[in-house]
Amino acid sequence: MSRRGGRGLRFVIVTRNRGKAEEFKKIFSEYGLRFRVEPMETPEIQASDLRSIAKESVLYAYDVLREPVMVEDAGLFIDALNGFPGPFSSYAYKTIGIRGILKLLEGVEDRRARFVSVIAFYSPLTEPVRFFVGEVEGYISDEPRGSKGFGFDPIFIPAEGDGRTFGEMDIEEKNRFSHRARSSKKFAEWISRLEELPPPYE
Ligand code: IMP
Repeated sequence: MSRRGGRGLRFVIVTRNRGKAEEFKKIFSEYGLRFRVEPMETPEIQASDLRSIAKESVLYAYDVLREPVMVEDAGLFIDALNGFPGPFSSYAYKTIGIRGILKLLEGVEDRRARFVSVIAFYSPLTEPVRFFVGEVEGYISDEPRGSKGFGFDPIFIPAEGDGRTFGEMDIEEKNRFSHRARSSKKFAEWISRLEELPPPYE
């Protein structure tokens, strides 16, 4: 524990997504980490993998903030659609949305899908950009269910759950097996072991 009552290196979470921010806050608080959330817009490059997108975003955010910074890029990969929308999930959500995804899967029996979360962290003291990945396997429901969470939560049923969608779960329940909880825990374990750093990073 540091003299200021927290563990590890202080950092900034950059996201404009309140749902994500709440999920991160719950997990990182359990580890006693020291962080703040910055709802800053970062350019999201169109790339075919989450890592490249997260890397570009974290380096952009660092250039602006000049503090240890983390960003997360996530996506929903649907087997029957060859992994679509994947890295294009944000665009797919804004355009065709949940209804559009369900339409694409009309009459499709194989509903398997996974959420993937990639956290990218950058600080010049821990070069290069570090990545932490989390995944959760599941199924796309026939109908949207639940109004909790965000994005595609109402149509994603985690395989390890009890048949409810993420949209029907509280944050604590979703955090028991979500992709974001898994990447976050790996990141939290790592950053909580970093030594206190001298100014201007402390
Ligand atoms: P982003 O680019 O990381 O913000 O995420 C891309 C899109 O994937 C978001 O707009 C959401 O629609 C979707 N998404 C990512 N993570 C989740 C999640 O935990 N639940 C539901 N949808 C998610």
